[in-house]
Amino acid sequence: MKLVSFIAAGSVAAAQQVYISANGPSSRPQCAANGSYATATPVYLFRDFSFTQTETIRTATSRPAPTTTTSFAPPYASLSSLVPSLITTQWGNWDPSSNASATDAGVPYGNASWTGLWTTVSWTNFTRGIYSTTVEPTAVPTSELVLPPPEYLAPRECYAFPEDFMLGVAASAVQIEGAIADEGRTPVHIDALPLLSPGASPDYITNENYYLYKQDIERIASMGIKYYRFSIPWSRILPFVLPGTPVNKQGLDHYDDIINFVLEKGMLPAIVLHHTDTPLQFYSNISEIGLAPGTGGIGYIDSGYQYSYKNVSYEDAFVNYGKIVMTHFADRVPIFWTFNEPLLGSKNGKSINAVIKAHARLYHFYHEEIKGTGKISITLNDNFGVPRDPENPADVDAANHFNSFQLATFANPIFLGIDYPDSYKMTVADYVPLNATDLVYLNGTADFFSIQPYTATVVSPPPNGSIVECAANITHPLRPYCVTQTTTVHDTQWNIGYPSQTYVYTTPTYFRTYLNYLWNTFKAPIVVTEFGTPVFGEAEKELKDQLFDSPRSQYYQYYLNEGLKAIWEDGVQWIGAFAWSFADNWEFGDFDAHFGIQTVNRTTQERRYKKSFFDFVDFIESRRQKE
Ligand SMILES: *[C@@H]1O[C@H](CO)[C@@H](O)[C@H](O)[C@H]1NC(C)=O
Ligand SMILES: *[C@@H]1O[C@H](CO)[C@@H](O)[C@H](O)[C@H]1NC(C)=O
Ligand SMILES: *[C@@H]1O[C@H](CO)[C@@H](O)[C@H](O)[C@H]1NC(C)=O
Ligand SMILES: *[C@@H]1O[C@H](CO)[C@@H](O)[C@H](O)[C@H]1NC(C)=O
Ligand SMILES: *[C@@H]1O[C@H](CO)[C@@H](O)[C@H](O)[C@H]1NC(C)=O
Ligand SMILES: *[C@@H]1O[C@H](CO)[C@@H](O)[C@H](O)[C@H]1NC(C)=O
Ligand SMILES: *[C@@H]1O[C@H](CO)[C@@H](O)[C@H](O)[C@H]1NC(C)=O
Ligand SMILES: *[C@@H]1O[C@H](CO)[C@@H](O)[C@H](O)[C@H]1NC(C)=O
Ligand SMILES: *[C@@H]1O[C@H](CO)[C@@H](O)[C@H](O)[C@H]1NC(C)=O
Ligand SMILES: *[C@@H]1O[C@H](CO)[C@@H](O)[C@H](O)[C@H]1NC(C)=O
Ligand SMILES: *[C@@H]1O[C@H](CO)[C@@H](O)[C@H](O)[C@H]1NC(C)=O
Repeated sequence: MKLVSFIAAGSVAAAQQVYISANGPSSRPQCAANGSYATATPVYLFRDFSFTQTETIRTATSRPAPTTTTSFAPPYASLSSLVPSLITTQWGNWDPSSNASATDAGVPYGNASWTGLWTTVSWTNFTRGIYSTTVEPTAVPTSELVLPPPEYLAPRECYAFPEDFMLGVAASAVQIEGAIADEGRTPVHIDALPLLSPGASPDYITNENYYLYKQDIERIASMGIKYYRFSIPWSRILPFVLPGTPVNKQGLDHYDDIINFVLEKGMLPAIVLHHTDTPLQFYSNISEIGLAPGTGGIGYIDSGYQYSYKNVSYEDAFVNYGKIVMTHFADRVPIFWTFNEPLLGSKNGKSINAVIKAHARLYHFYHEEIKGTGKISITLNDNFGVPRDPENPADVDAANHFNSFQLATFANPIFLGIDYPDSYKMTVADYVPLNATDLVYLNGTADFFSIQPYTATVVSPPPNGSIVECAANITHPLRPYCVTQTTTVHDTQWNIGYPSQTYVYTTPTYFRTYLNYLWNTFKAPIVVTEFGTPVFGEAEKELKDQLFDSPRSQYYQYYLNEGLKAIWEDGVQWIGAFAWSFADNWEFGDFDAHFGIQTVNRTTQERRYKKSFFDFVDFIESRRQKE
């Protein structure tokens, strides 16, 4: 089911050429009238001096209180027959420093069995945060909502965002919740990852959003954000993972309350079902989580999509979990994403197959059985490959190979109903073939394209041998993409953009190219479900200087501005932007890669808005078309 029919082919073709002309930026008619400045002589004169500068004090426009409730599906009471025989119970918290022990050993799914899921792993330095119960929110004082000085060189084109352009912020459970062993949750694979990397910080506490969610939502709504994108951990809904095991009442109640509070604050909730949090029960040994380089794996960390647990495939178990979440919450939630960046957690062909099939089954369930009127998508990742030299066909081939491996592997079947791309099939020998029946079932199972276009990658062929040779060689160091990746502009000493603390470079013009690539290749409306940048060295700065994060403001303004050009000059249907992330958080072992538009004090858990939060919202809202 597609949102729209796409625009006429002629204008699409015209939109392909978005490289900056060698003659420089386009002419500025407003300057031509003053052409005489090129030759005129300045006139110097004395005047009476006075301070003419006036400061305009503006405050953020908070979300208005909701006046209506939109229903996107029938309530759970009408859908419960779609998930028959659910049993709900609860388990409480695991506290390794307590000597209390459950007395129900041997009872299936009892407290002792539940505790056993925690004690199979030696959690180093397991600690709790400050909070153990939900904190009531307090209103954000107006003084905190005063806008910072604007960026001096903010873009000044006259383009507008369509009235319904989605303005959102995003985060994921493992990166913000903490409380990992509270209220029935059982371990997920990423909880154990720091145990494999000495020195890595764990996610035991992070932002304590599990207890501070009301304050976080209050702060986001106060800034005028409409969409709140968050993830639900499978293991907090189904601590024992599999179909037929009891559902955790505390977990359901918690996310139910998040959804209701988001709505009460005038926003809309948007849910990711899997965001780097596969239940640890799928693994027989935590050493399976890391995907060692050179072993032919596809992603970086093994999300275990290819596993079975007690003979139930990941695919079947995930679909069961997804149905439970959807039936409970679809009445109030307009958007569900099945997976976030699944490629990065894929080990092999079976992994990709499980993700695509599970996704499509939940899409069909949502639209055909629940009869939901909201949207379903899956978020893909690819730090867009651009050819080192766009005039060189080998570089262009390499860039196409790089992008199609990461995107078309999922998007060919899901958006176009066509087979996997050659880039994938030639690299992943154990790929699971799709037959004609599969392709009909998979075709059109996303309502919009979701992408996280953080940055761009400069791509050229492998230095030795060809892409084909590399793809056939399981130990080749350039696998899986089999191209040379750099962040240096062709034949120069220059970075491709402003560098961050990590892999992100600020590359707005490539973002516009990227939107053109996605729209014209997969022919679906595009939502940017994450984008952002960890400002270099931010964690080292004093708070006041962290808050004045101009490089991040510029990142957002420049990307948004290039996206506007894609809409108005190229005819690309770009329909939403979600900032990653609404606050600094746990970057998989590290708290110093600050991707947030708010700071978080790691001692007090206090949040503060950064300048970029205001600039991100203001850029969109000051350009939004009126109803
Ligand atoms: C420069 O051009 C602007 C816009 O056309 C016009 O309003 C302004 O009067 C011009 N200034 C001079 C000195 O010609
Ligand atoms: C738990 O037992 C250990 C060892 O017997 C003891 O040192 C500790 O104080 C006990 N903790 C509590 C909370 O009772
Ligand atoms: C676990 O123990 C708590 C506290 O005694 C109890 O409320 C809960 O029902 C128990 N859960 C199970 C699954 O037995
Ligand atoms: C656990 O904490 C101690 C004391 O802070 C520290 O020295 C040690 O490195 C930590 N262990 C791990 C695995 O992080
Ligand atoms: C887990 O795997 C590691 C590495 O292969 C091995 O050293 C360890 O003994 C295994 N642990 C268990 C409990 O099987
Ligand atoms: C899984 O299936 C195999 C083969 O059918 C069987 O031998 C085994 O007992 C099953 N394991 C579980 C945990 O059900
Ligand atoms: C996929 O579905 C769309 C929309 O129904 C249809 O136009 C297209 O032909 C299908 N693709 C294939 C390969 O059948
Ligand atoms: C297509 O493959 C699916 C498994 O993905 C299988 O269940 C189905 O029977 C196959 N259909 C045909 C017509 O081969
Ligand atoms: C390419 O070959 C050269 C010379 O044999 C070697 O030094 C270099 O490491 C190779 N590069 C890669 C990426 O394999
Ligand atoms: C595969 O790649 C490895 C590592 O670069 C290399 O040593 C080996 O010769 C390659 N094998 C073939 C068949 O090319
Ligand atoms: C965090 O809060 C504590 C207590 O108020 C303060 O001492 C510390 O400086 C704060 N940290 C930062 C980075 O502001």
